[in-house]
Amino acid sequence: MMAQADVTTIVIFGASGDLTQRKLIPALYNLYLKKRLPEKFNVVGVSRTPFSHAAFRDKLRDGAKEFSKSSYKAKDWKEFAQHVYYKSSNATQPEDYKGLDAAFRKLEKSGANRLYYLSTSPSLYEATVENLGAAGMTREDEGWRRIIIEKPFGVDLESARHLNKVVHSVFDESQVYRIDHYLGKETAQNVLFLRFANTIFEPIWNRNYVDNIQITVAESVDVGHRGAYYDQAGVLRDMFQNHLLQLLALVAIEPPSSVNATALRNEKVKVLSAVRRIDLHDTVRAQYEDYRQAKDVKPDSKTPTYAALKLYIDNWRWEGVPFFMRSGKAMAAKTSQIRVRFRRPPLNMFNGMRNNSSSVPPNVLSICIQPDEGIHLNFEAKVPDHRETRSVDMEFTYKEAFGEYEIPEAYERLLLDAMLGDAALFTRSDEIEQLWSIVDPVLKGWEALDVPPVAMYPRGSWGPKEADDLLARDNHKWKLGCAFEDC
Ligand code: BG6
Repeated sequence: MMAQADVTTIVIFGASGDLTQRKLIPALYNLYLKKRLPEKFNVVGVSRTPFSHAAFRDKLRDGAKEFSKSSYKAKDWKEFAQHVYYKSSNATQPEDYKGLDAAFRKLEKSGANRLYYLSTSPSLYEATVENLGAAGMTREDEGWRRIIIEKPFGVDLESARHLNKVVHSVFDESQVYRIDHYLGKETAQNVLFLRFANTIFEPIWNRNYVDNIQITVAESVDVGHRGAYYDQAGVLRDMFQNHLLQLLALVAIEPPSSVNATALRNEKVKVLSAVRRIDLHDTVRAQYEDYRQAKDVKPDSKTPTYAALKLYIDNWRWEGVPFFMRSGKAMAAKTSQIRVRFRRPPLNMFNGMRNNSSSVPPNVLSICIQPDEGIHLNFEAKVPDHRETRSVDMEFTYKEAFGEYEIPEAYERLLLDAMLGDAALFTRSDEIEQLWSIVDPVLKGWEALDVPPVAMYPRGSWGPKEADDLLARDNHKWKLGCAFEDC
């Protein structure tokens, strides 16, 4: 029986890194302001670099100022920062863990819950997990013990399976929270609300009415200072294996019987396991023009910074419906959107006489994940005083509908859910393996057969011509239905 404790300690391994400053601490600070953190809590940063508590807090304050949206106030920060501590330690050294445990206990005073956050280099995940286990720091006799594991979870199917084994040798799956911050985005969660809190979409959400679905996750930033990591990873591991396929799963799953972690993740695993093996000819890989000159990138690197692909889901709902997905760095704008294109009406009664157009444009539902958060429905209306139609837009934007609410950062939702023990928005072990088994054959195929060739695209563009050709083969075009931020 797991003990209930009234103190919670959040331990961030890899605390000197970017994520802590940019995302984790601002999220915890916001949760604190909203009074959503437990009354008694500690946040302890752990990494090798030595810091005093005060120096660590100062470093974090700068992050909170910059990244807490509008909520930073010196007085509030001072209060929050009193809960923040630092302990220098080497995660790979088993003997360091006794000292860590003692430091946590000193703060906790009595039995406590602990949330471990793995935000180190992924090469340290295994050692950290094993060392936590060996030091008895995962036992739940004084309070719960949970672990959040940052992406990337493995680099391919085999390594993900291995990491799952290591994790399961120490933690029960119910203690494990594999994070994908896209699932914490309000607008990604809203895909489920759109589909299952309404009656009007679901009856047409299938092969009988949907012609194709496009998922675009474009970024205007380049690889920046992350060349060493990125050149090993590439866009398929960095974005598709997790964020894009999670969006796909949300769009494509069958209705779960509830949104609890088990029911929801069962459905996701089911739909992901129906994804047909991707044909290499249905893939495009590309680099932005000067990627190879970036710091820590090999001069002859073949790592793609952009990919596009077509996939199919072999089940009753989606048979024959192509899903086109693309993502890249150094593109024309930052935008994440899902575009559901419906079939055309069977008969064109209206536009026939106008400019020889033989068909009425299809209806399109655009789900705007960011930055223009909302949903747009494009449909046809009669042009006044003319016997023809024009496409018009029915628009829902978060800004207009929910102006009084600030959209929270994804990490806020996810950190809170982990503390509440709700794993619905985290990736289960079988799910992560399923995700890898979709991208693995593409990664291996690209490497072994060297097809398709690595294309190039100009910075600030929408990707290579080859990606347009991929859709042109099926008489389609990449299209965007949401506004975006030009770079
Ligand atoms: C991360 C990737 O998971 O997601 C980054 O490692 C990418 O390369 C980032 O920039 C994109 O996240 P967002 O929330 O800015 O769309």
